[in-house]
Amino acid sequence: MESSSPQPQLHSFHAGISGAWRIDTIAPVVGDGLKLAARLAMIVGNQPAPAGTLWTLSGTTSNTRYATHTEVETLRRTQANLGRPEATRAALIPIRKSPAWWGLAQDERRAIFEEQSRHTAIGLEYLPAIARRLIHSRDHGGEFDFLTWFEYAPEHAAAFEDLVGRLRASREWTFVEREVDIRLSR
Ligand code: HEM
Repeated sequence: MESSSPQPQLHSFHAGISGAWRIDTIAPVVGDGLKLAARLAMIVGNQPAPAGTLWTLSGTTSNTRYATHTEVETLRRTQANLGRPEATRAALIPIRKSPAWWGLAQDERRAIFEEQSRHTAIGLEYLPAIARRLIHSRDHGGEFDFLTWFEYAPEHAAAFEDLVGRLRASREWTFVEREVDIRLSR
C-alpha cells in the first residue's frame, strides 16, 4: 500500500522485547538518538503496546502532499508491497524538519522537495527493490514529523545506502533537524 492511501491508517512502532523485527543498530544522524532495544513491532490499527515496550513512535498514513499526477501513477506502477518474504532487511528512519521548513508555503516546499532535491526522481531509481511506507506524525504531537519505513532484500542493502546518501546530500535535508537511522532484520 502506498502513502497516498485515502484512508489514514494508524501505525505504531513499538521497540522493546517483542515484534517481528530484530533491531540491529540505532544511529543518531542529526540530534538525539533513541534508546537501544532488542526487537521492534510494527502494528497497524489500534492495538495496545506489547509488554516490555521501551518506546513507541506512531502516526498515520495520509494523502500525498507533493507528488504530481504523473509521479503518483509512476509510483503506483513501480512500487512493491511491504511484507515480501525476501525483504528481510528494514529501516525505520524518523525525521523532524525545522520551523523554517514549516514556515514555507506549499509551492516553495514542493520546489525544494522535487525541482531542487529530486526526491521522487531519485527514489524511483530504487523501486521496486526498496518497498516504502510514509507515516505522518507531525499532527500527532510526537517528537518527529515523519516515520519512514523501508523493506529490502540483503542484496539491495548497498543500493539502499546509496539512496539515503543521495537524499541526505540534497537541499531538502538542510531542513532536517532530527533524524535517527534504525536498521532491522528478520
Ligand atoms: C525508496 C525510494 C523513495 C521514494 C520513491 C520516495 C518517494 C517519496 C514521495 C513521492 C514523497 C512525497 C509524498 C507526498 O507527495 O506527500 C516522499 C516523502 C518523503 N520521503 Fe521519500 N522516497 C524514497 C525514499 C526515502 C528515504 C530513503 C527517506 C529517508 C531517508 C525518505 C524520506 C521521506 C520523507 C521524510 C518524506 C516526507 C517529506 C515531507 O513531506 O516534507 N524517502 N518520498
